[in-house]
Amino acid sequence: MRILFVCLGNICRSPLAEVIARAEAEQRGLDTWHIASAGTGDWHVGQGADRRSLAVARKHGLDLSRHVARQVTAEEMEDWDWFVAMDRSNRADLLAMGADPARVLLMRQFDPSGELDVPDPYYGGEDGFELAYRLLRENAGRLLDYLASYGR
Ligand code: 4NP
Repeated sequence: MRILFVCLGNICRSPLAEVIARAEAEQRGLDTWHIASAGTGDWHVGQGADRRSLAVARKHGLDLSRHVARQVTAEEMEDWDWFVAMDRSNRADLLAMGADPARVLLMRQFDPSGELDVPDPYYGGEDGFELAYRLLRENAGRLLDYLASYGR
């Protein structure tokens, strides 16, 4: 199973989603799953994670220090079983790039609140990063459970 978490810059939300989902997958014995992240934009390609994401990850026992931001391309639409977009704008960008709509999920697809987007914390304060962490942690397990049972 190959899953790509996607946001805009690949420095704030999707790198966090990647390490959280990997931890949740390991907990479920799904450690053969390939989990990665990328951004739809190219502004931060080659850079590490935003220092505020690094800090919130560290606070919760996760290491983002080896992250290198990458841009998702139209050439890799067939390479992934699932794309998980952080918000509806990221999903629209993936669909415009040719992703199969049946293979694009929203990070908050199964959030009981009915909210669909993980708000972009880039231009806000530290609390936006803590909120992003909480939303990602709450929803990663739900998503993985769905994907693990898909097709069974
Ligand atoms: P991300 O946050 O999509 O969660 O990585 C952003 C990072 C950078 C920018 C926007 C959002 N930016 O405009 O540079």
